[in-house]
Parts: sequence; structure tokens; C-alpha cells
Amino acid sequence: MKILILNGPNLNLLGTRESDVYGTKTLEEINASLKGLAEELGVRIDMRQSNHEGELVDIIQNSKNYAALVINPAAYTHTSVAIRDAIAAVEIPTVEIHLSNIYSREEFRHTSLISPVASGQISGFGPDSYLLGLRAAVSIASHAKKSSS
Ligand code: DQA
Repeated sequence: MKILILNGPNLNLLGTRESDVYGTKTLEEINASLKGLAEELGVRIDMRQSNHEGELVDIIQNSKNYAALVINPAAYTHTSVAIRDAIAAVEIPTVEIHLSNIYSREEFRHTSLISPVASGQISGFGPDSYLLGLRAAVSIASHAKKSSS
């Protein structure tokens, strides 16, 4: 089973970016712990990051061979109809994740355009949101496999 972990804009700056909100772990460190968990769970993962909406759409359109998608759409969570439509189009099980609890922050972050097309959302557990997201993705992808066979 192969799972895609996709990160949106500014997440390449983790570690130095608003560390009071997002913590001090870098994306490389998060990716290293994801690799460790993937090995433990016996799944393969690819990890991508882009600051560009169109590139994120292209990556999602090309993700049909993955069993599931774990995405932190970052600021595009609140604005991108294009990313939402791309997820709806590929129809692969999707877990939306956020480091911060978007519902306890500014009001404009309370709306996610992605949630209605995701299987579920994990928000507010810091870097652990990624690990929980991978576990959730493996779980829903296994169920999807069973029900389609
Ligand atoms: C974020 C929350 C978004 O509102 C914000 O724009 C981000 C990161 C999070 O992981 O908490 O860039 O997705």
C-alpha cells in the first residue's frame, strides 16, 4: 500500500515559522518520523510540498495510484476550490490534517473547503497530526480495499 503525504504553502518553513503556533520541528524532522511510522505499519509513503496551488492540483490529479492521500493544504484549506475539486475528482480516500487547531484560531480559519471532500480531519495535535493522519489513511485505505474486493 502506497500513501501520498502532501503539504501546502509555507510548510517548508516549519521549525522557524510562527513556532509559538506550529512548534519547532522542521518538515524534514516530521517526514523522518513519518518514514519510521510507515515502516512500522508496513506501508510505503511519498512526501511532497509545494507553495503553488496549480502544482498541488497537478500532484493530486496524478495521485490515482495511491491508496490514500494525507494532505495539509495549509492556507489553501480556507480558499481553494481548485484543490477541493481535484480531491473530489480523483476519488481517493483523503485525510485532511492541520498542526494547529484551526477552530480555536482566527475566524477565517474556521472554514475548510477541503473537509466536505475528505474522509475526515485531524486538527490541533502539532506534528502528531501527521502521524495520526497516516494511521487514519492506512485504516480507511484498508477498509476501502476490503469493500471493493
Ligand atoms: C495549518 C493551518 C492553516 O490555517 C494555516 O494557513 C497553515 C497551517 C496548520 O497546519 O495548522 O499554513 O494548515
